This record gives sequence, C-alpha cells and structure tokens, in this order.
Amino acid sequence: MQTITLRRPDDWHLHLRDGAMLEGVIGDTSRHFARAIIMPNLVPPVVTTADAKSYRERIMAALPAGDRFEPLMTLYLTEQTSPDDVEAGKESGLITAVKLYPAGATTNSHGGVRDIEKAMPVLERMARIGLPLCVHGEVTTPDVDIFDREAVFIETVLDPLRKRLPELKVTMEHVTTKDGIDYIKASKANLAGSITTHHLIINRNAILVGGIRPHYYCLPVAKREHHRLALRAAAVSGDPRFFLGTDSAPHVDPLKECACGCAGVYTSINTMSCLAHVFEDEDALDKLEAFSSLNGPAWYGLPVNAETITLVRREEEVRFPAKIETGAGPVTVFDPMFALHWDVA
Ligand code: NCD
Ligand code: ZN
Repeated sequence: MQTITLRRPDDWHLHLRDGAMLEGVIGDTSRHFARAIIMPNLVPPVVTTADAKSYRERIMAALPAGDRFEPLMTLYLTEQTSPDDVEAGKESGLITAVKLYPAGATTNSHGGVRDIEKAMPVLERMARIGLPLCVHGEVTTPDVDIFDREAVFIETVLDPLRKRLPELKVTMEHVTTKDGIDYIKASKANLAGSITTHHLIINRNAILVGGIRPHYYCLPVAKREHHRLALRAAAVSGDPRFFLGTDSAPHVDPLKECACGCAGVYTSINTMSCLAHVFEDEDALDKLEAFSSLNGPAWYGLPVNAETITLVRREEEVRFPAKIETGAGPVTVFDPMFALHWDVA
C-alpha cells in the first residue's frame, strides 16, 4: 500500500456561506485543512472589519467539536471601503486579504467594484501596509466573450493596476487560462495564483458535451483543454507562485439544476483525493505538498502547519457521496469522472 505524508494542507480560496449551509459544509473542510481564506461574498457581503469579526465568530461556532481550523478572513472591496478600516483589520490580525470582485462577475458580486479608480485609496493603503489583494480576474463587459474574460482582465485591469502599484501584492485567484499562468510566470514579484481542484480535472466539454451539466458550471468557467494542461503543468511544477485554492462553492441542487443555474462546484469533501490522483497521473506526487501545503503559507507570510496528514492509495475505489445533505438542502459533490483510489488516512 502506497502512502504519502504531507504537511496539513490549507485552502487559499473557499466559500463557506452562512447559517445552515455553513453548518452543513464546514466539517468537510476542517477534516483535512488547517486554514482557509474565507470568501466574503455573503448576502449582504462582508465589507467591514466588524462584519468579518462576526462572520468569523459564526464560523467558529459552526465548527465540529474537536476540529482545529483557522478561518482567514477577507473583506469584500467596494467603492466605499475605508482605508482606515482595512488597516485596522489587518493590524488586529483578523484580516488576511481584501477581495476584488468586478461588479457582476460572479455569485453575489453586484456590490463589487465598477470603477477601480474609486478603490485606489484603499489599494494604495494596502500596498503600503503589505495587505494582499485577491482578485476575481474576469471583466464583466457584456461584449467580451465569457471564455475570454480572464485574458481581457489581465490586459485591461490587472496589468495596468500592477504597473501603477507595483508594491501591491496580488493573488490572481482560480486561474483558468494559459494566459493567466504565463502572466504569473512572467512576473518578477508580488504576483501569485491559486488553482482549483476542478480546473485541473475538467475542461469546458464537461459542461457542454452530451447534455448540459450544471454541476460542472462555475466561474471562471472551465476553458479549452490546452488551458487545463497549462494549469496542471503549473500546479505540479513546484513553482512557489502556484498553490491550491479550491473555490469550493456550495449551492443547493435546486439552484444549480434550473433554467438559470448558479455558478459553483463543491469539492471540499474530495479535494485531497482528487489532487493526489492528478499529481500521481503527472508523476509528481512529490510536488503535491508544495502545492497544497507549502507555497500558500509562504506567499501569505504565514508559518507552514506543524501537523501532517497521510494519504493512502487503496486497491479498492474510494467512494464519496454523490450529494451531501445540509440544513439548507442537498449539495452535489464534484464528480471527477474517474475512480478515486487515494484517501486521507
Ligand atoms: C462562487 C460562488 O458561488 O460564490 N462561484 C464560483 O463559481 N466559483 C463565486 C466565485 O468565486 O466566483
Ligand atoms: Zn470563489
């Protein structure tokens, strides 16, 4: 039986939601992950340090007894965000990053930034105090094709911003294109990227071939195969600028399986099994720890976790439920479309 032991992983991009959904999903993360960057796109969003403090308390209250887990809180950047509040949030140790959602880019992002000029005072302060900006890197311009929105964002928003504020630390979240990978690799400093589990596994055919499959629909939407291959190469390269952010984003099935389904894939429960499979496929199991447990803390200036987890390769298939039941309703679990054999011991 093959086993590998890794430092306990962290998830650098996670949606935990609130209320009954939070209670239903948090255990799937805290079972394997020590920390996670918690996305602030609640309804209403987590905008101020006070909002983040109370959200953190709700997360801690929902944590299964005995689990140790540290939520790393983020603020949802708006055109009204106060630089002083952001700085106070960082100083208090509560806030790990600020999240930029271009208005309308994804789930619950209508309060996001329309005119980046209006957010410049906050971004300048963040550059000065060393607080990272996490970006949802897609433009929302209606005439830009959805499959091009990441590449156009890099060219028209991200690159000009980084030229203007080179000291600002930017995490390009859930990179889905070769363009994004190449842009990060070409950068000299202050840029890194998270990659999701599902974007290492599916391309856009999963959503559209042989029928429309809403449980593979997420944002940024999965792209062509050559983009997926670029993501895989980056993830298994060991390059410290790439690390895991699952973007596990639960929605109850009725909100996915309908005429206008929500974006989001739920992967918290089987991410480590899926990743071990991908890294084994790439003959790179020795690089899994860098991707899931070392590169992220280094980028965010946090210590690596002291604890470890052990992954075991089993002869028999390791099965996960097709859905989890939450108090908010059923949530379909990501199906990688191959049999999983790796399990967390
Ligand atoms: C996320 C969600 O549902 O909150 N959905 C998704 O497809 N990833 C939002 C996001 O991260 O874009
Ligand atoms: Zn997300």
